[in-house]
Amino acid sequence: MNSHLKTLKVGMIGCGVVGSEVARLLEENAEDLAARSGAKLELAAIAVRDISKKREGINPALFTTDAESIVNDPSIDIIIELAGGIEPARSLILQAFKNKKSVVTANKALLAKHGAELYETAGANGEDIYYEAAVAGAIPIIRPLRSSLVGDHIEKVMGIVNGTTNYILTKMDETGASFASALKEAQALGYAEADPTADVEGFDAAAKAAIIAGLAFHTRVTDADVSREGITGITDKDVEVAKSLGLIIKLLAIAELTPDDAISVRVHPTLLPRTHPLASVREAFNAVFVEAEAAGSLMF
Ligand SMILES: NC(=O)c1ccc[n+]([C@@H]2O[C@H](COP(=O)([O-])OP(=O)(O)OC[C@H]3O[C@@H](n4cnc5c(N)ncnc54)[C@H](OP(=O)(O)O)[C@@H]3O)[C@@H](O)[C@H]2O)c1
Repeated sequence: MNSHLKTLKVGMIGCGVVGSEVARLLEENAEDLAARSGAKLELAAIAVRDISKKREGINPALFTTDAESIVNDPSIDIIIELAGGIEPARSLILQAFKNKKSVVTANKALLAKHGAELYETAGANGEDIYYEAAVAGAIPIIRPLRSSLVGDHIEKVMGIVNGTTNYILTKMDETGASFASALKEAQALGYAEADPTADVEGFDAAAKAAIIAGLAFHTRVTDADVSREGITGITDKDVEVAKSLGLIIKLLAIAELTPDDAISVRVHPTLLPRTHPLASVREAFNAVFVEAEAAGSLMF
């Protein structure tokens, strides 16, 4: 590794499903990341709730339960927030900006509720907030919406942004399974949580819809603005009837301009022709379909 490279110290808040992988990738890909980014990224501290938990392959000396000490540490340059939830994540991120640190987060629930406050505080402090992996299973959709398509006029964004519900609907469509048995299978495979409410009632998709709509239409959208219906009311009979008509039921997040130039943002089960590009997205995969004036139809 080039020893003349600058070192950027990274402080991580949270080391669960996502955080432990980020720690592993920072360690295993250190040389590649340094070569590509032009700086060495050194994981310097990690905040967790329970310091006594065993966390394979991560230096135990890095752990603390004092997340504030990390965001207030002047030697740390970048904060990666992977704790989830609203507080203390919101306050810690705001404090990090005030201390002139950039932030990377996967916290879609927080972005959907307090995005405007976070973007404004970041901007006011000359910092930035990055969240490419927070929406749609890490499909790179944020950058295209934030910058690549910024000169175009987006008319509509439709996405399958929740893998759990897409898995359940795929099983119902392909095997005739009931909602309950498809959910059980998704839980056994680790696609669905023991408490699947956030997924099956559409809360997770609504948070992502709010983030996508805000970026697509350059405005503030929170999860409270999103009309939401999940998939718990879908029966095997509904799926069968849809199939007999050449249609498929998908849980879509939809953000579109209405004819009177308002914005409609909603999440609900939708009947799609089986020839639609989103109809072929199976199992736990995500996909986002963008209709823009100049670029036409784009599928991510
Ligand atoms: N899991 C996914 O597939 C996925 C995909 C995209 C985005 N995300 C987002 O990524 C974030 C993290 O998700 P996850 O699945 O990794 O969650 P998780 O497994 O529950 O991990 C959360 C981590 O945060 C720590 N933590 C929680 N509250 C804390 C606090 N107040 N101070 C310090 N540490 C705290 C926990 O500590 P302990 O370990 O001590 O309990 C744990 O290490 C969430 O915003 C989620 O929406 C997750």
